Amino acid sequence: MKTIKLGLLGLGTVGGGTLKILQENADILSQRVPARFEVKRIAVRDLNKPRTVDTGGIALTDQPFTVVNDPEIDVVVELMGGTTLARELVLSAIDNGKHIVTANKALLAEHGEEVFAAAERKGVQVAYEAAVAGGIPIIKALREGLAANRIDWLAGIINGTGNYILTELKQPGADFATVLKNAQALGYAEADPTFDVEGIDAAHKLTILASLAFGIPLQFDKVYTEGISAISADDMRFAAMLGYEIKHLGLAKRTDAGVSLRVHPTLVPKSVLLAQVSGVMNAVMTHGDQVGPTLYYGPGAGAGPTASAVVADLVDVARTMDCKAHAQVPMLGLGNRQNLTVLGMDEVRCACYLRFLAKDVPGVLAKFSGVLAQAGISVEHMHQEPCDDESGDALVVLITDEVTEAAMNRAISKLESLDEIDGAVQRIRIETLN
Ligand code: NAP
Ligand code: HSE
Repeated sequence: MKTIKLGLLGLGTVGGGTLKILQENADILSQRVPARFEVKRIAVRDLNKPRTVDTGGIALTDQPFTVVNDPEIDVVVELMGGTTLARELVLSAIDNGKHIVTANKALLAEHGEEVFAAAERKGVQVAYEAAVAGGIPIIKALREGLAANRIDWLAGIINGTGNYILTELKQPGADFATVLKNAQALGYAEADPTFDVEGIDAAHKLTILASLAFGIPLQFDKVYTEGISAISADDMRFAAMLGYEIKHLGLAKRTDAGVSLRVHPTLVPKSVLLAQVSGVMNAVMTHGDQVGPTLYYGPGAGAGPTASAVVADLVDVARTMDCKAHAQVPMLGLGNRQNLTVLGMDEVRCACYLRFLAKDVPGVLAKFSGVLAQAGISVEHMHQEPCDDESGDALVVLITDEVTEAAMNRAISKLESLDEIDGAVQRIRIETLN
């Protein structure tokens, strides 16, 4: 039986999980591919760090270029993270004729055009199922399973850490810092967890999903990005009272004018399946012109689920590495990609939830509705309750109808300039996903 030699860059959460699957499921894998995987070298940063997986017989090194330059290695599995050294290593490996399997969404979202072009020139594959939504085979679903469709939109909970935090914060007494620490201990978070909390990781993943769904180039810089750090306990309580869950969504929609790409906290009606996805679980909903809605659900982060996707990619590469390029699935789904206009956020239309602190005096609610009416915005629902302090202020929540972002921005500025409103207006966009 043929042996496929692997070089791993990284032996952390995902690298350790990958080595474990290769060891524990070696028999199953050899039934699925007419080859045997052999891990020859692994690069780590700290050679003295204790490892939880058996590395016997494998050369560990802190010199990652020795992995990508080893002429015996067929496939480089990049599980290090980052966009600088990882980019250099991946491009060198490609230049040396090696196939790549990676979980690095930041690398692909920011440098994917360069990486895929280099791979095409060299006739090698770059496989990246683990880069989006952990263990869910969403890349395969979009690129292959839905190939008959024009995708109209997709919406996903695509950051496990963020969804875990939003879920845990619903527990009485939970605080953000402790919940984030737990997510880090469970191996869910990025090396820099602000990538999770501020939506950057979800924006990286949305960049990849949108490229596959719409056949557009990878354009991370065009994704509007907001994280979950400004969501308060009051927002969660009001959302629940009004029949919604707050979810951090990545949204990519196609209209006649162009496509919109955005990542932000979103009020989703409780009756929608995405609203019921909790903890580290991810889910991606897509709408194809022929199939209609489809939903993909599974664990979005952590060693086992992510490594499951890495090893599935290894199986794919092993099955097709001897085929000519035309017999392989194109890495980004399309031979010729389209340059659809990416709309500015100002053009996006959404209904909104607004929350602010207001002076509790007669006539204020009419004044707020007046400001919104002048901006052409109707109020669908209004709620007011006294603050539980001595201020005499009231907490006001409004649900508006659908409006452009530009009009809502103007209305929020006017509201914030009123003497009757204290501080900033919180805005959370609403999506009904139908
Ligand atoms: P991690 O636990 O921090 O592991 C990173 C590994 O890379 C470690 O083994 C580290 O070595 C090694 N490394 C870092 N810099 C290095 C350098 N300069 N030279 C050699 N080795 C170096 O990270 P992870 O969570 O496994 O994530 C890895 C990648 O997978 C990232 O791109 C991440 O975005 C992606 N990903 C992660 C998850 C997840 O759930 N964690 C899910 C999907 C995708 P040491 O062990 O010696 O420190
Ligand atoms: N930090 C990422 C998350 C890892 O929490 O979703 C999976 O990509």
